[in-house]
Amino acid sequence: PGEREENETSKGLRVADKGFLNTAVLRSEITYIDGEAGVLRYRGYPIEQLAVQSSHLETAYLLIYGSLPTKHQFQTFQDEIMHHSVIHADAEQFFRSFRYDAHPMAILTGALAYLGSYYSEANPSLQGQNLFTKGDKASLAIMDKQIYRLIGKATTLAAMAYRVRQGREFVTPPTGLSYTGSFLYQMDHLGQENYVPNPVLEKALDVLFLLHADHELNASATTVLQTSSSLVDPFSAVAAGCASLYGPLHGGANEAVIRMLISIGKPENVPAFIEAVKKREKVLSGFGHRVYKTSDPRSFIVRKTADEVFKITGKDELLDTAMALHDAAMKDEYFIKRKLAPNVDFCGLIYRAMGFPNDFFPVLFAVPRVVGWLAHWRQMMLQPGGVKIWRPRQIFVGAAKRDYVQVDDRI
Ligand code: ACO
Repeated sequence: PGEREENETSKGLRVADKGFLNTAVLRSEITYIDGEAGVLRYRGYPIEQLAVQSSHLETAYLLIYGSLPTKHQFQTFQDEIMHHSVIHADAEQFFRSFRYDAHPMAILTGALAYLGSYYSEANPSLQGQNLFTKGDKASLAIMDKQIYRLIGKATTLAAMAYRVRQGREFVTPPTGLSYTGSFLYQMDHLGQENYVPNPVLEKALDVLFLLHADHELNASATTVLQTSSSLVDPFSAVAAGCASLYGPLHGGANEAVIRMLISIGKPENVPAFIEAVKKREKVLSGFGHRVYKTSDPRSFIVRKTADEVFKITGKDELLDTAMALHDAAMKDEYFIKRKLAPNVDFCGLIYRAMGFPNDFFPVLFAVPRVVGWLAHWRQMMLQPGGVKIWRPRQIFVGAAKRDYVQVDDRI
């Protein structure tokens, strides 16, 4: 429902739309979701086809530039991204300044903003001009370079956020490995020397990255666009998106799923947990979605990927509890009535089986989502008519005019 409020700056209807349930803020060509039918397409291509036939980096190109790359375009894109994966040695001091128990999302969010301080050429505030909305060859090239840097360095920053907490030396990005292979190498998360990524795990991570690459105007993509609408540099905007993703209602949910499963323990405790959720004493993380009113199409691919990973790593001990929870919720009238189904966040079980710590899961969401954030940023910068600053209105319900009272006269 709208509320009418007249004032000097705006005459007409002002709509109070808490949570933006019905507000479309732009026209987009990037990602299509039909939440009732469970359809997800990137630039028109069904997610099911991309997950089987494409790769995360090829899909990144598709999302950002609008079409599948030719062999040459892909090779250049991949080479540029891998070339830009190295971080300046000074950044080590920045990482070392965090406490040993800092949450890796706090480190990553800070590191993304920090990274921007290296590239004044990409900062419209410092350049005194809008670099990105012109659309000419020179500004498109500057834009591309920031895209390569952010995608290339996202894995390196993430691996540094991981290693610093263990007091370990940082690893220079290797050459000759794939995007996820290089990431796993830098993480060296199993603690082996001369770590060579297992090809099945490398591929599984690539599929999960592809599934997480974009999801239209979720909270973090919207944050990136809101922030970018002031024409700030893309590093700051992506850092803002990362902060938004950190929350447990968004990217933090995959970490929350594991905490929830651990707290439930055995499958026989599931019915009591479901009752507590229905009484609103507990939250069923990994269920429900603003847009999907049926199963998230990504959840089927996650399940298939889990089977492949578990063949290598062994089955996660929480899997039986997760399946019991899934089956109980899908049969329960409370969840059926509200159209609550599993979202993509159950992939935490795969990350756990691969040996990543629980609090690292949101980072494994943020790294691939950098792609989607940049696709939205680029589209916004190049939209016809230029960028208009995002400045929503409010319905003011506070005090009417009051006169200041001296401190001694206050009661
Ligand atoms: N468990 C129990 N009840 C739920 C859940 C849940 N996970 N999700 C929604 N509901 C209930 C709400 O209480 C509400 O009930 P009511 O109408 O009786 O008050 C109804 O379902 C509608 O839910 P809303 O919160 O209004 O839906 P909204 O679109 O605002 O929120 C959200 C969506 C935030 C994802 C929500 O479903 C949720 O909190 N889920 C758990 C956290 C989670 O998994 N987040 C990840 C989302 S996906 C992603 O970011 C990758």
